[in-house]
Amino acid sequence: MTIQSVDYSTKIPNNVNLAEDRAVLRALESWHPGYIEWWKTMGPEGFQDALVYLRTAVSVDPKGWAKFDYVKMPDYRWGILLAPGEDGRKIPFGRHLGEPAWQEVPGEYRAMLRRLITIQGDTEPASVEQQRHLGKTAPSLYDMRNVFQVNVEEGRHLWAMVYLLQKYFGRDGREEAAELLQRRSGDADKPRMLGAFNEATPDWLSFHMFTFFTDRDGKMQLESLAQSGFDPLSRTCRFMLTEEAHHMFVGETGIGRTLQRTCEAMKAAGIEDVEDIERVRALGVIDLPTMKKKLNLHYSLSLDLFGSEVSTNAANAFNAGLKGRFQESKIQDDHKLENATYPVLKLVDGAIKRVDEPALTAINMRLRDDYTADCQRGLDRWNKIIERTGVAYKFELPNVAFHRHIGEFKDVLVTPDGRIIDEAGWNREKDKWLPSSDDGEFIKSLMTPVTEPGKFASWIAPPRVGIDNKPGDFEYVKIAA
Ligand SMILES: [Fe+2]
Ligand SMILES: [Fe+2]
Repeated sequence: MTIQSVDYSTKIPNNVNLAEDRAVLRALESWHPGYIEWWKTMGPEGFQDALVYLRTAVSVDPKGWAKFDYVKMPDYRWGILLAPGEDGRKIPFGRHLGEPAWQEVPGEYRAMLRRLITIQGDTEPASVEQQRHLGKTAPSLYDMRNVFQVNVEEGRHLWAMVYLLQKYFGRDGREEAAELLQRRSGDADKPRMLGAFNEATPDWLSFHMFTFFTDRDGKMQLESLAQSGFDPLSRTCRFMLTEEAHHMFVGETGIGRTLQRTCEAMKAAGIEDVEDIERVRALGVIDLPTMKKKLNLHYSLSLDLFGSEVSTNAANAFNAGLKGRFQESKIQDDHKLENATYPVLKLVDGAIKRVDEPALTAINMRLRDDYTADCQRGLDRWNKIIERTGVAYKFELPNVAFHRHIGEFKDVLVTPDGRIIDEAGWNREKDKWLPSSDDGEFIKSLMTPVTEPGKFASWIAPPRVGIDNKPGDFEYVKIAA
């Protein structure tokens, strides 16, 4: 295994020897100005001249891949970094199981592969667009730095996908790369490709739920693409996962700090009843039932990203060796799924039932189950924080049939505990399950910026440790006058 060092001498830092890959270097260099233009108009609003304490990937060595320093975001070194190749890597699943991994695009799978890469690529700038207003209401400089860190890395993930498109897909790839800069999150005429990436991220509670739930979908997708028989995609995704971990950290600790602050304020004020929303809100913190509603919303939107439970597209991508399962190599089976079945939740005669389906067509369902288990572990950690404060409350994930727009349950109305109800019942109760406009207004009222180093807004606790072990009053963002 060799680790190729990162070349910082060219405009585009990389460990793929771009300097000698003239055609691809030219394609990327001609894409670069459009990207910077996109970043300046659709990236973080304001703060483009601020000095932000960011980590930049400078190597793909797991032990020391990043360095921290003050950078103006438009000057961030967005690079092309692939995890080291493994000598003699074999395709780990599907009908080509055991054959050498592909270093070039297999012709028969070209269209399928291009689509997988484009969809992944589209989510990256979409989330930057969704988060572009958050800097203005950051609850601290620490949090402001975190959203900007997530944003520059999503930008780098876009570069990662664009490199694959431009290097391996010729003119088609260059066209896809151009279109990735043209779609816009939430735009009626040219929306981003997936639903959850067209939703608004109006406040910091949404941002933290998004990075917990939706970036975690990203992790699952990257994990399954990291198994790909197309080796450049596998190596790209493996390195992206290193960065992705921080995004989920931002979400999990963001929510953890929010609920810690709420519980401590309730205790200090002697409020026992979690449902006494008025009194809790009067303390300048976000009540737990409102957090629960945001959780319901972001979890259900993220479940839609896994697509239909039973899917021939997913089966084809698996069979072809392009997209595997979560931790494919640790699964004990034939990795071909010729005769296997997998239990799938379906709507049968008006009831939610588990039905055995061919495991091949149930690939999406399996990945979604793995995702749910991963989410649950995060909820367990949140519940521990609540428990330690002595407040009697527990977060639970809603039923997977709740509030769905894609797949088996898109045409039925289901309560968070899994009961199918009629429209009148839904309309009567839905404000108990999903954030109402009143909830949105209340949260918005708390979103006043705090820009003094070491200070935090009323609704969120400080982090236990700083980024890069910096002290509590470290100036993570030097805002330009
Ligand atoms: Fe990403
Ligand atoms: Fe991410």
